[in-house]
Amino acid sequence: MKIISEFLIIGSGIAGLSYALKVAEKGSVSLITKRKVSDTATDLAQGGIASVTSEEDSFAEHIEDTMVAGAYLSDPKVVKMIIEGGPDAIKDLINWGVNFTRNEEDEYDLTREGGHSRRRILHAKDMTGHEIERALVEAVRAHPNISLYEQHIAIDLITESKIKYRRGKPDRCIGAYVLDINSDEVISFGARITVLATGGAGKVYLYTCNPDVATGDGVAMAYRAGASIANMEFMQFHPTTLFHPLAKSFLISEAVRGEGAILRRADGTAFMPEYHKLKDLAPRDIVARAIDNEMKKHGDNCVFLDITHEDDDVIKDRFPNIYETCLGYGIDITKDPIPVVPAAHYLCGGVKVDRWGESDIHNLFVIGESSCTGLHGANRLASNSLLEGAVYAARAAERSIERLKEMSPPFPEVKIWDSGSATNSDEEVIVVHNWHEIRLSMWNYVGIVRSTKRLTRALHRIQMIQEEIDDYYWDFFITSDLIELRNIATVAELIIRSALKRKESRGLHYTLDYPQTDDVHYKKDTLIRKRF
Ligand code: SIN
Repeated sequence: MKIISEFLIIGSGIAGLSYALKVAEKGSVSLITKRKVSDTATDLAQGGIASVTSEEDSFAEHIEDTMVAGAYLSDPKVVKMIIEGGPDAIKDLINWGVNFTRNEEDEYDLTREGGHSRRRILHAKDMTGHEIERALVEAVRAHPNISLYEQHIAIDLITESKIKYRRGKPDRCIGAYVLDINSDEVISFGARITVLATGGAGKVYLYTCNPDVATGDGVAMAYRAGASIANMEFMQFHPTTLFHPLAKSFLISEAVRGEGAILRRADGTAFMPEYHKLKDLAPRDIVARAIDNEMKKHGDNCVFLDITHEDDDVIKDRFPNIYETCLGYGIDITKDPIPVVPAAHYLCGGVKVDRWGESDIHNLFVIGESSCTGLHGANRLASNSLLEGAVYAARAAERSIERLKEMSPPFPEVKIWDSGSATNSDEEVIVVHNWHEIRLSMWNYVGIVRSTKRLTRALHRIQMIQEEIDDYYWDFFITSDLIELRNIATVAELIIRSALKRKESRGLHYTLDYPQTDDVHYKKDTLIRKRF
């Protein structure tokens, strides 16, 4: 089966939904998403969206905080552009129906998080992403030009070079092959403009606060299609996720520290003053490394986040989701310090895009966490990601609409998927086993503290697993588990190869073999591109 539209969007977080709403007046939109529409990292985002909205704040300060957190690897022009685009992006969200929390003076309540010199984060209590997702999904569902396909997972992009020789011209994206998970049918989605908004890749690691969907699909597909991939070594570990056997790394928002919570050892002593002048509100890489160090030094399974000094009612009102969730696990955060550990949280690298969100494959735009715009550099400043997703969705939409005006009929021809001689698999256990092995190797060898020996060992293992996955991929009918496994293996390989290229420590990439920052040789992006 073929489905043809002007715009094909893969992913339904803030970036994909905002883009859909921006372009829908100009043409038909197919929006595909691999689970339910709100199964996204956006929906789980607690903290908020950073933007300069207060008289006391300034763009210059937000820019400087972003550059400092990013260890000066961020592209200053992109940082300025995104931060100055913040107020308009916030207006769009409000117009689409997002309700941010207001204070007693009926102004937007601004909270603080690590690395921010000011209170500048708009939030909806501690469920900001959920509120954004709710409003955008409602608007998308109500739009007659947008067709939403849930339970549809993209397999690979369709590019013109796969169909005809392009005589040295840049490649062009014309859609994607997509598996309908309910019917097992592979559909060819043809489009003039294709947008990857597939989010992050935390599931590459054993412990992550990302949702199950975060398997790096967009990065893996774009890489296989020949796009440049940048800065994959910079995986951000969130310092504070709940340490509990049943909690699946539930996030304890940095806003809890923003409102005064203190990290303590098991004996009750506060340790962050020993690591950074901003103490508990130091940038995330520093806090995560400090916790890792404390746990290793004392042989502890976790450290403790203490907000018990705050008024009980204030805690319950400001963090209702965290309060209720922890209570469900037997922890009353108004009385007990919260046991926490770091977990994989945000991929700062991704598909390299220009200032309009376009990759180096023509008509392939990449927005949100799956892109690398130049904003985050070596470490993302808290709450800058929803901002980036919204600003780049608007920019990519503007450029896509211009592109559309230059195009004339007919639509590019897409072929039907050919399953060749594939059969049903009777060894699903291989998928489960390889999935676990990748995540464990990444956690043990490619985590917060790295070394060349550990990275090399991990690369060797991943490459062996990739060979097995490739055999499996060609021999058996495709399933969503297999698609995701193939993608996490690709992303794992890209993270390790990028980490091996960076022979210095900067931001989120810390290696025992090169503990210093080397501006002379490495103040630049790490780029990887598939050779055909
Ligand atoms: C948090 O609430 O701590 C997460 C915010 C973010 O990652 O930007």
